Amino acid sequence: MANGVEGSAEFGSVCVVGLGYIGLPTAAFIASKGIKVTGVDVNPQFVDSINRGEVPFVEPGFDSLLKRVVDDGLLVAQSEQVPADAYIVCVPTPFAEGYKVDTKYIDSAADSLAPHLRPGALVVLESTSPPGTTRGMAERLIEKRPDLSLDESQDNAIFVAHCPERVLPGRIMEEMENNDRVIGGLTPKGTELAVALYSTFCTAELHETDATTAEMAKLTENAFRDVNIAFANELSLISDELGINVWELIELANHHPRVNILQPGPGVGGHCIAVDPWFIVSSVPEQARLVRMAREVNDGKPGWVLNKVEEATAGIDNPVVAALGIAFKNDIDDLRESPSLDIARRLAETHPSADVRVVEPNVTELPEVLAQLPNVGKYELEDAVREADIILLLVNHKEFIEFDRAKLGSQTVIDTKGIWG
Ligand SMILES: NC(=O)c1ccc[n+]([C@@H]2O[C@H](COP(=O)([O-])OP(=O)(O)OC[C@H]3O[C@@H](n4cnc5c(N)ncnc54)[C@H](O)[C@@H]3O)[C@@H](O)[C@H]2O)c1
Repeated sequence: MANGVEGSAEFGSVCVVGLGYIGLPTAAFIASKGIKVTGVDVNPQFVDSINRGEVPFVEPGFDSLLKRVVDDGLLVAQSEQVPADAYIVCVPTPFAEGYKVDTKYIDSAADSLAPHLRPGALVVLESTSPPGTTRGMAERLIEKRPDLSLDESQDNAIFVAHCPERVLPGRIMEEMENNDRVIGGLTPKGTELAVALYSTFCTAELHETDATTAEMAKLTENAFRDVNIAFANELSLISDELGINVWELIELANHHPRVNILQPGPGVGGHCIAVDPWFIVSSVPEQARLVRMAREVNDGKPGWVLNKVEEATAGIDNPVVAALGIAFKNDIDDLRESPSLDIARRLAETHPSADVRVVEPNVTELPEVLAQLPNVGKYELEDAVREADIILLLVNHKEFIEFDRAKLGSQTVIDTKGIWG
Protein backbone atom coordinates (compact mmCIF):
# COMPACT_ATOMS: atom_id res chain seq x y z
CA MET A 1 0.00 0.00 0.00
CA ALA A 2 1.28 3.45 -0.83
CA ASN A 3 1.06 5.02 2.63
CA GLY A 4 4.23 4.04 4.42
CA VAL A 5 7.29 2.60 2.75
CA GLU A 6 9.33 4.22 -0.02
CA GLY A 7 10.27 2.48 -3.28
CA SER A 8 8.53 0.82 -6.20
CA ALA A 9 7.40 -2.24 -4.25
CA GLU A 10 4.76 -0.24 -2.42
CA PHE A 11 2.69 0.41 -5.56
CA GLY A 12 0.94 -2.87 -6.17
CA SER A 13 -1.53 -1.21 -8.52
CA VAL A 14 -1.62 2.04 -10.45
CA CYS A 15 -4.52 3.57 -12.35
CA VAL A 16 -3.80 6.05 -15.16
CA VAL A 17 -6.80 8.18 -16.10
CA GLY A 18 -6.75 9.51 -19.68
CA LEU A 19 -4.86 7.40 -22.23
CA GLY A 20 -3.85 10.01 -24.81
CA TYR A 21 -0.42 11.12 -26.01
CA ILE A 22 0.79 11.47 -22.42
CA GLY A 23 -1.26 9.06 -20.28
CA LEU A 24 -0.83 5.94 -22.41
CA PRO A 25 2.99 6.04 -22.61
CA THR A 26 3.11 6.84 -18.88
CA ALA A 27 0.90 3.83 -18.14
CA ALA A 28 3.00 1.58 -20.38
CA PHE A 29 6.32 2.67 -18.86
CA ILE A 30 5.04 1.99 -15.34
CA ALA A 31 3.64 -1.39 -16.43
CA SER A 32 6.99 -2.25 -18.03
CA LYS A 33 8.48 -2.19 -14.52
CA GLY A 34 6.21 -5.05 -13.48
CA ILE A 35 3.54 -2.92 -11.79
CA LYS A 36 -0.08 -3.76 -12.57
CA VAL A 37 -1.61 -0.77 -14.34
CA THR A 38 -5.24 -0.12 -15.21
CA GLY A 39 -5.64 2.51 -17.89
CA VAL A 40 -8.96 4.33 -17.92
CA ASP A 41 -10.35 6.29 -20.85
CA VAL A 42 -13.81 7.48 -21.78
CA ASN A 43 -13.08 6.84 -25.46
CA PRO A 44 -14.14 3.22 -26.17
CA GLN A 45 -12.14 3.12 -29.43
CA PHE A 46 -8.97 3.91 -27.51
CA VAL A 47 -9.79 1.23 -24.92
CA ASP A 48 -10.34 -1.42 -27.61
CA SER A 49 -7.26 -0.47 -29.57
CA ILE A 50 -5.04 -0.50 -26.47
CA ASN A 51 -6.34 -3.90 -25.36
CA ARG A 52 -5.38 -5.24 -28.80
CA GLY A 53 -1.89 -3.88 -28.12
CA GLU A 54 -2.27 -1.18 -30.80
CA VAL A 55 -1.25 2.43 -30.20
CA PRO A 56 -4.22 4.64 -31.20
CA PHE A 57 -1.97 7.53 -32.34
CA VAL A 58 1.43 7.99 -33.95
CA GLU A 59 4.44 7.68 -31.62
CA PRO A 60 7.62 6.22 -33.10
CA GLY A 61 8.94 3.12 -31.35
CA PHE A 62 6.09 2.90 -28.83
CA ASP A 63 4.16 0.03 -30.47
CA SER A 64 6.42 -2.78 -29.27
CA LEU A 65 6.43 -1.56 -25.65
CA LEU A 66 2.64 -1.28 -25.57
CA LYS A 67 2.18 -4.70 -27.15
CA ARG A 68 4.57 -6.28 -24.64
CA VAL A 69 2.89 -4.86 -21.50
CA VAL A 70 -0.58 -5.69 -22.82
CA ASP A 71 0.44 -9.25 -23.80
CA ASP A 72 2.02 -9.70 -20.36
CA GLY A 73 -1.25 -8.67 -18.71
CA LEU A 74 0.44 -5.73 -16.95
CA LEU A 75 -1.63 -3.04 -18.67
CA VAL A 76 -5.37 -3.35 -19.12
CA ALA A 77 -7.52 -0.55 -20.52
CA GLN A 78 -11.15 -0.02 -19.54
CA SER A 79 -13.73 2.71 -19.17
CA GLU A 80 -14.35 2.31 -15.43
CA GLN A 81 -12.14 3.41 -12.57
CA VAL A 82 -10.79 0.84 -10.12
CA PRO A 83 -9.35 0.86 -6.60
CA ALA A 84 -5.58 1.44 -6.82
CA ASP A 85 -2.61 2.43 -4.67
CA ALA A 86 -1.89 5.39 -6.95
CA TYR A 87 -3.71 7.36 -9.65
CA ILE A 88 -2.23 9.53 -12.36
CA VAL A 89 -4.67 11.93 -14.03
CA CYS A 90 -3.67 12.86 -17.63
CA VAL A 91 -6.83 14.36 -19.09
CA PRO A 92 -7.04 17.44 -21.36
CA THR A 93 -6.98 20.97 -19.93
CA PRO A 94 -8.41 23.19 -22.68
CA PHE A 95 -9.41 26.86 -22.56
CA ALA A 96 -12.73 28.06 -21.26
CA GLU A 97 -14.11 31.58 -21.62
CA GLY A 98 -11.47 34.32 -21.21
CA TYR A 99 -8.49 31.96 -21.59
CA LYS A 100 -9.22 30.44 -18.20
CA VAL A 101 -8.66 26.72 -17.87
CA ASP A 102 -11.67 24.48 -18.33
CA THR A 103 -11.37 21.86 -15.59
CA LYS A 104 -14.35 19.81 -16.74
CA TYR A 105 -12.20 16.78 -17.65
CA ILE A 106 -10.28 16.90 -14.37
CA ASP A 107 -13.56 17.30 -12.47
CA SER A 108 -15.20 14.30 -14.12
CA ALA A 109 -12.04 12.18 -13.69
CA ALA A 110 -11.97 13.12 -9.98
CA ASP A 111 -15.68 12.41 -9.56
CA SER A 112 -15.38 8.94 -10.98
CA LEU A 113 -12.21 7.99 -9.13
CA ALA A 114 -13.36 9.33 -5.73
CA PRO A 115 -15.60 6.33 -4.86
CA HIS A 116 -12.61 3.98 -5.27
CA LEU A 117 -10.16 5.90 -3.08
CA ARG A 118 -8.74 4.17 -0.02
CA PRO A 119 -6.86 5.81 2.86
CA GLY A 120 -3.19 6.12 1.91
CA ALA A 121 -3.82 6.39 -1.83
CA LEU A 122 -1.81 8.81 -3.95
CA VAL A 123 -3.45 10.94 -6.67
CA VAL A 124 -1.13 12.78 -9.07
CA LEU A 125 -2.40 15.39 -11.51
CA GLU A 126 -0.21 15.46 -14.66
CA SER A 127 -2.42 17.64 -16.83
CA THR A 128 -0.95 21.08 -17.47
CA SER A 129 -2.79 23.29 -15.01
CA PRO A 130 -2.93 26.83 -13.59
CA PRO A 131 -1.77 27.35 -10.01
CA GLY A 132 -4.25 25.98 -7.50
CA THR A 133 -5.78 23.33 -9.78
CA THR A 134 -4.22 20.41 -7.89
CA ARG A 135 -5.62 21.74 -4.62
CA GLY A 136 -9.00 22.24 -6.28
CA MET A 137 -8.97 18.63 -7.48
CA ALA A 138 -8.00 17.42 -4.00
CA GLU A 139 -10.80 19.39 -2.37
CA ARG A 140 -13.26 17.98 -4.88
CA LEU A 141 -12.15 14.45 -3.96
CA ILE A 142 -12.71 15.17 -0.26
CA GLU A 143 -16.13 16.70 -0.98
CA LYS A 144 -17.09 13.40 -2.61
CA ARG A 145 -15.40 11.39 0.12
CA PRO A 146 -15.80 13.25 3.44
CA ASP A 147 -14.61 10.07 5.20
CA LEU A 148 -11.10 10.81 3.85
CA SER A 149 -8.75 13.66 4.76
CA LEU A 150 -5.99 15.79 3.22
CA ASP A 151 -4.36 16.12 6.67
CA GLU A 152 -1.44 13.75 6.40
CA SER A 153 -1.26 13.22 10.14
CA GLN A 154 -4.63 11.42 10.01
CA ASP A 155 -5.06 7.68 9.43
CA ASN A 156 -7.68 8.38 6.76
CA ALA A 157 -5.37 10.68 4.74
CA ILE A 158 -5.01 10.57 0.98
CA PHE A 159 -2.02 12.18 -0.72
CA VAL A 160 -2.18 14.51 -3.71
CA ALA A 161 0.59 15.91 -5.93
CA HIS A 162 1.26 17.58 -9.24
CA CYS A 163 3.87 16.31 -11.70
CA PRO A 164 3.78 18.16 -15.02
CA GLU A 165 4.83 16.43 -18.23
CA ARG A 166 7.57 17.78 -20.49
CA VAL A 167 7.94 15.13 -23.17
CA LEU A 168 8.00 16.06 -26.83
CA PRO A 169 5.62 13.91 -28.86
CA GLY A 170 7.72 11.96 -31.34
CA ARG A 171 10.51 11.51 -28.77
CA ILE A 172 8.48 9.97 -25.97
CA MET A 173 10.40 6.69 -25.86
CA GLU A 174 13.55 8.61 -24.98
CA GLU A 175 12.15 11.45 -22.95
CA MET A 176 9.67 9.60 -20.71
CA GLU A 177 12.56 7.94 -18.86
CA ASN A 178 15.28 10.54 -19.30
CA ASN A 179 13.68 13.95 -18.72
CA ASP A 180 14.05 15.52 -15.27
CA ARG A 181 10.68 15.91 -13.52
CA VAL A 182 9.33 18.53 -11.13
CA ILE A 183 7.15 16.97 -8.43
CA GLY A 184 5.14 18.93 -5.88
CA GLY A 185 2.81 17.51 -3.29
CA LEU A 186 0.11 19.32 -1.37
CA THR A 187 1.95 17.94 1.66
CA PRO A 188 5.53 16.65 2.16
CA LYS A 189 4.32 13.06 2.26
CA GLY A 190 2.46 13.60 -1.01
CA THR A 191 5.71 14.76 -2.62
CA GLU A 192 7.59 11.79 -1.18
CA LEU A 193 5.06 9.26 -2.48
CA ALA A 194 4.88 10.85 -5.90
CA VAL A 195 8.69 10.78 -6.13
CA ALA A 196 8.58 7.08 -5.24
CA LEU A 197 6.00 6.49 -7.99
CA TYR A 198 7.91 8.33 -10.72
CA SER A 199 11.22 6.78 -9.69
CA THR A 200 9.77 3.41 -10.72
CA PHE A 201 10.29 4.38 -14.39
CA CYS A 202 12.08 7.74 -14.58
CA THR A 203 15.86 7.56 -14.33
CA ALA A 204 16.49 11.33 -14.45
CA GLU A 205 16.41 13.76 -11.52
CA LEU A 206 13.12 14.21 -9.70
CA HIS A 207 13.03 17.73 -8.28
CA GLU A 208 10.87 18.13 -5.20
CA THR A 209 8.75 21.19 -4.51
CA ASP A 210 5.16 22.10 -3.55
CA ALA A 211 2.15 21.64 -5.84
CA THR A 212 1.69 25.30 -6.81
CA THR A 213 5.36 25.72 -7.74
CA ALA A 214 5.20 22.53 -9.79
CA GLU A 215 2.14 23.85 -11.63
CA MET A 216 3.89 27.16 -12.29
CA ALA A 217 7.12 25.44 -13.37
CA LYS A 218 5.45 23.92 -16.42
CA LEU A 219 3.67 27.15 -17.33
CA THR A 220 6.87 29.13 -16.80
CA GLU A 221 8.86 26.93 -19.17
CA ASN A 222 6.39 27.55 -21.97
CA ALA A 223 5.91 31.24 -21.14
CA PHE A 224 9.70 31.66 -21.29
CA ARG A 225 9.72 30.28 -24.82
CA ASP A 226 6.71 32.39 -25.78
CA VAL A 227 8.20 35.65 -24.48
CA ASN A 228 11.49 35.01 -26.26
CA ILE A 229 9.76 34.18 -29.55
CA ALA A 230 7.63 37.32 -29.12
CA PHE A 231 10.80 39.39 -28.86
CA ALA A 232 12.04 37.92 -32.14
CA ASN A 233 8.64 38.47 -33.75
CA GLU A 234 8.55 42.07 -32.56
CA LEU A 235 12.03 42.60 -33.99
CA SER A 236 10.73 41.38 -37.35
CA LEU A 237 8.03 44.08 -37.29
CA ILE A 238 10.50 46.76 -36.22
CA SER A 239 13.03 45.69 -38.86
CA ASP A 240 10.40 45.76 -41.58
CA GLU A 241 9.54 49.36 -40.68
CA LEU A 242 13.21 50.31 -40.67
CA GLY A 243 13.93 48.52 -43.94
CA ILE A 244 16.49 46.13 -42.50
CA ASN A 245 16.85 42.36 -42.68
CA VAL A 246 15.76 40.89 -39.35
CA TRP A 247 17.62 37.62 -39.93
CA GLU A 248 20.90 39.44 -40.45
CA LEU A 249 20.13 41.69 -37.47
CA ILE A 250 19.57 38.72 -35.14
CA GLU A 251 22.58 36.86 -36.48
CA LEU A 252 24.78 39.90 -35.75
CA ALA A 253 23.28 40.52 -32.30
CA ASN A 254 23.79 36.88 -31.36
CA HIS A 255 27.55 37.33 -31.74
CA HIS A 256 27.39 39.11 -28.38
CA PRO A 257 28.56 36.49 -25.86
CA ARG A 258 25.46 36.84 -23.67
CA VAL A 259 22.77 37.33 -26.34
CA ASN A 260 20.80 34.48 -27.89
CA ILE A 261 17.75 35.78 -29.73
CA LEU A 262 15.36 33.18 -31.15
CA GLN A 263 14.03 33.24 -34.71
CA PRO A 264 10.85 35.03 -35.78
CA GLY A 265 8.10 33.28 -37.71
CA PRO A 266 4.43 33.53 -38.70
CA GLY A 267 3.28 33.23 -35.05
CA VAL A 268 3.35 30.57 -32.37
CA GLY A 269 1.41 27.31 -32.50
CA GLY A 270 1.04 23.93 -30.87
CA HIS A 271 -1.05 23.04 -27.88
CA CYS A 272 1.57 24.08 -25.26
CA ILE A 273 3.42 27.34 -25.94
CA ALA A 274 0.38 29.00 -27.52
CA VAL A 275 -1.89 27.93 -24.64
CA ASP A 276 -0.07 27.57 -21.32
CA PRO A 277 1.02 31.22 -20.83
CA TRP A 278 -2.67 32.19 -20.82
CA PHE A 279 -3.08 30.07 -17.68
CA ILE A 280 -0.60 32.41 -15.94
CA VAL A 281 -2.37 35.49 -17.31
CA SER A 282 -5.79 34.28 -16.24
CA SER A 283 -4.50 33.47 -12.74
CA VAL A 284 -2.73 36.76 -12.07
CA PRO A 285 -3.79 39.25 -14.78
CA GLU A 286 -2.48 42.34 -12.99
CA GLN A 287 1.02 40.98 -12.60
CA ALA A 288 1.44 38.97 -15.80
CA ARG A 289 1.79 41.96 -18.14
CA LEU A 290 4.78 40.78 -20.13
CA VAL A 291 3.39 37.26 -20.47
CA ARG A 292 0.11 38.65 -21.83
CA MET A 293 1.90 41.03 -24.17
CA ALA A 294 4.02 38.19 -25.56
CA ARG A 295 0.86 36.20 -26.30
CA GLU A 296 -0.64 39.22 -28.03
CA VAL A 297 2.49 39.90 -30.09
CA ASN A 298 2.68 36.27 -31.20
CA ASP A 299 -1.05 36.01 -31.86
CA GLY A 300 -0.86 39.24 -33.90
CA LYS A 301 1.82 37.95 -36.24
CA PRO A 302 -0.50 36.02 -38.62
CA GLY A 303 -2.46 39.26 -39.23
CA TRP A 304 0.77 41.07 -40.07
CA VAL A 305 1.74 38.32 -42.54
CA LEU A 306 -1.70 38.56 -44.14
CA ASN A 307 -1.19 42.32 -44.61
CA LYS A 308 2.05 41.54 -46.44
CA VAL A 309 0.16 39.20 -48.76
CA GLU A 310 -2.49 41.88 -49.23
CA GLU A 311 0.16 44.37 -50.36
CA ALA A 312 1.77 41.82 -52.67
CA THR A 313 -1.50 40.81 -54.35
CA ALA A 314 -2.78 44.37 -54.87
CA GLY A 315 -3.52 44.82 -58.56
CA ILE A 316 -3.51 41.10 -59.39
CA ASP A 317 -7.04 39.96 -60.29
CA ASN A 318 -6.94 36.27 -59.49
CA PRO A 319 -3.68 35.80 -57.62
CA VAL A 320 -2.18 32.35 -57.26
CA VAL A 321 -0.62 32.05 -53.81
CA ALA A 322 1.57 29.08 -52.92
CA ALA A 323 1.31 28.61 -49.14
CA LEU A 324 4.30 26.51 -48.12
CA GLY A 325 3.57 24.67 -44.88
CA ILE A 326 0.58 24.53 -42.55
CA ALA A 327 2.05 22.53 -39.62
CA PHE A 328 2.79 24.45 -36.43
CA LYS A 329 6.50 23.76 -36.76
CA ASN A 330 9.03 22.13 -39.05
CA ASP A 331 9.02 18.50 -40.17
CA ILE A 332 5.93 17.36 -38.24
CA ASP A 333 2.28 16.78 -39.14
CA ASP A 334 0.81 18.50 -36.06
CA LEU A 335 -1.65 21.23 -37.06
CA ARG A 336 -2.92 22.16 -33.58
CA GLU A 337 -3.12 25.94 -33.01
CA SER A 338 -0.99 26.36 -36.14
CA PRO A 339 -0.56 30.00 -37.21
CA SER A 340 0.36 28.87 -40.73
CA LEU A 341 -2.89 26.97 -41.09
CA ASP A 342 -4.70 30.02 -39.75
CA ILE A 343 -2.99 32.25 -42.34
CA ALA A 344 -3.89 29.92 -45.23
CA ARG A 345 -7.51 29.74 -44.07
CA ARG A 346 -7.93 33.48 -43.52
CA LEU A 347 -6.26 34.26 -46.82
CA ALA A 348 -8.63 31.97 -48.74
CA GLU A 349 -11.71 33.19 -46.88
CA THR A 350 -11.00 36.90 -47.31
CA HIS A 351 -9.84 36.53 -50.94
CA PRO A 352 -12.35 34.28 -52.70
CA SER A 353 -10.75 35.18 -56.03
CA ALA A 354 -7.34 33.96 -54.88
CA ASP A 355 -6.18 30.45 -55.73
CA VAL A 356 -4.47 29.20 -52.56
CA ARG A 357 -2.17 26.25 -53.27
CA VAL A 358 -1.13 24.61 -50.04
CA VAL A 359 2.02 22.51 -49.90
CA GLU A 360 2.35 20.35 -46.78
CA PRO A 361 4.63 17.34 -47.26
CA ASN A 362 3.76 15.91 -43.83
CA VAL A 363 0.03 15.35 -44.33
CA THR A 364 -1.77 13.22 -46.89
CA GLU A 365 -4.94 15.31 -46.86
CA LEU A 366 -5.80 18.89 -46.06
CA PRO A 367 -7.71 19.38 -42.80
CA GLU A 368 -11.45 19.95 -43.15
CA VAL A 369 -11.14 23.64 -42.31
CA LEU A 370 -9.17 24.12 -45.58
CA ALA A 371 -10.59 21.25 -47.65
CA GLN A 372 -14.08 22.77 -47.48
CA LEU A 373 -12.91 26.04 -49.06
CA PRO A 374 -13.43 26.06 -52.86
CA ASN A 375 -10.31 28.10 -53.59
CA VAL A 376 -7.85 25.93 -51.63
CA GLY A 377 -6.08 22.82 -52.91
CA LYS A 378 -3.19 20.59 -51.90
CA TYR A 379 -0.24 20.70 -54.29
CA GLU A 380 3.23 19.32 -54.78
CA LEU A 381 5.96 21.86 -54.06
CA GLU A 382 7.26 22.30 -57.62
CA ASP A 383 3.78 22.58 -59.12
CA ALA A 384 2.64 25.16 -56.60
CA VAL A 385 5.76 27.26 -56.94
CA ARG A 386 5.87 27.17 -60.75
CA GLU A 387 2.50 28.86 -61.28
CA ALA A 388 2.40 31.09 -58.23
CA ASP A 389 2.30 34.88 -58.26
CA ILE A 390 3.15 34.93 -54.55
CA ILE A 391 5.13 32.33 -52.61
CA LEU A 392 4.28 32.46 -48.93
CA LEU A 393 6.87 30.52 -46.93
CA LEU A 394 5.27 29.63 -43.61
CA VAL A 395 7.19 26.66 -42.17
CA ASN A 396 10.87 25.70 -42.38
CA HIS A 397 10.25 22.11 -43.49
CA LYS A 398 13.37 20.42 -44.86
CA GLU A 399 11.78 20.12 -48.34
CA PHE A 400 11.49 23.90 -48.53
CA ILE A 401 15.00 24.54 -47.21
CA GLU A 402 16.40 22.12 -49.83
CA PHE A 403 14.34 23.56 -52.71
CA ASP A 404 16.47 24.61 -55.66
CA ARG A 405 15.83 28.34 -55.85
CA ALA A 406 17.30 28.47 -59.35
CA LYS A 407 13.84 27.23 -60.35
CA LEU A 408 12.21 30.44 -59.13
CA GLY A 409 11.01 32.96 -61.66
CA SER A 410 9.42 36.33 -61.05
CA GLN A 411 7.26 35.25 -58.12
CA THR A 412 7.08 37.53 -55.10
CA VAL A 413 8.43 35.64 -52.07
CA ILE A 414 7.16 36.39 -48.57
CA ASP A 415 9.49 34.40 -46.36
CA THR A 416 8.24 34.33 -42.75
CA LYS A 417 11.00 31.92 -41.67
CA GLY A 418 14.00 33.51 -43.36
CA ILE A 419 15.05 30.30 -45.09
CA TRP A 420 15.37 31.63 -48.64
CA GLY A 421 17.63 34.49 -47.60
N1 LIG B 1 0.71 16.02 -25.73
C1 LIG B 1 1.72 16.72 -25.25
O1 LIG B 1 2.71 16.94 -25.93
C2 LIG B 1 1.72 17.25 -23.83
C3 LIG B 1 2.93 17.62 -23.27
C4 LIG B 1 2.94 18.08 -21.97
C5 LIG B 1 1.74 18.18 -21.27
N2 LIG B 1 0.56 17.83 -21.86
C6 LIG B 1 -0.66 17.94 -21.06
O2 LIG B 1 -1.08 16.65 -20.68
C7 LIG B 1 -2.51 16.61 -20.61
C8 LIG B 1 -3.03 15.50 -21.50
O3 LIG B 1 -2.62 15.80 -22.83
P1 LIG B 1 -2.68 14.73 -24.00
O4 LIG B 1 -1.93 15.33 -25.13
O5 LIG B 1 -2.31 13.38 -23.50
O6 LIG B 1 -4.25 14.75 -24.30
P2 LIG B 1 -5.07 13.74 -25.22
O7 LIG B 1 -6.24 14.48 -25.70
O8 LIG B 1 -4.17 13.05 -26.19
O9 LIG B 1 -5.54 12.59 -24.19
C9 LIG B 1 -6.44 12.81 -23.14
C10 LIG B 1 -7.29 11.56 -22.97
O10 LIG B 1 -8.12 11.73 -21.81
C11 LIG B 1 -9.35 11.10 -22.07
N3 LIG B 1 -10.33 11.59 -21.10
C12 LIG B 1 -10.98 12.78 -21.04
N4 LIG B 1 -11.75 12.84 -19.95
C13 LIG B 1 -11.61 11.69 -19.29
C14 LIG B 1 -12.15 11.16 -18.09
N5 LIG B 1 -13.00 11.88 -17.34
N6 LIG B 1 -11.79 9.92 -17.72
C15 LIG B 1 -10.95 9.18 -18.48
N7 LIG B 1 -10.40 9.63 -19.62
C16 LIG B 1 -10.72 10.87 -20.02
C17 LIG B 1 -9.64 11.42 -23.52
O11 LIG B 1 -10.58 10.51 -24.08
C18 LIG B 1 -8.23 11.30 -24.14
O12 LIG B 1 -7.99 10.00 -24.66
C19 LIG B 1 -2.98 18.01 -21.00
O13 LIG B 1 -3.16 18.79 -19.87
C20 LIG B 1 -1.83 18.54 -21.81
O14 LIG B 1 -1.77 19.96 -21.81
C21 LIG B 1 0.53 17.35 -23.13
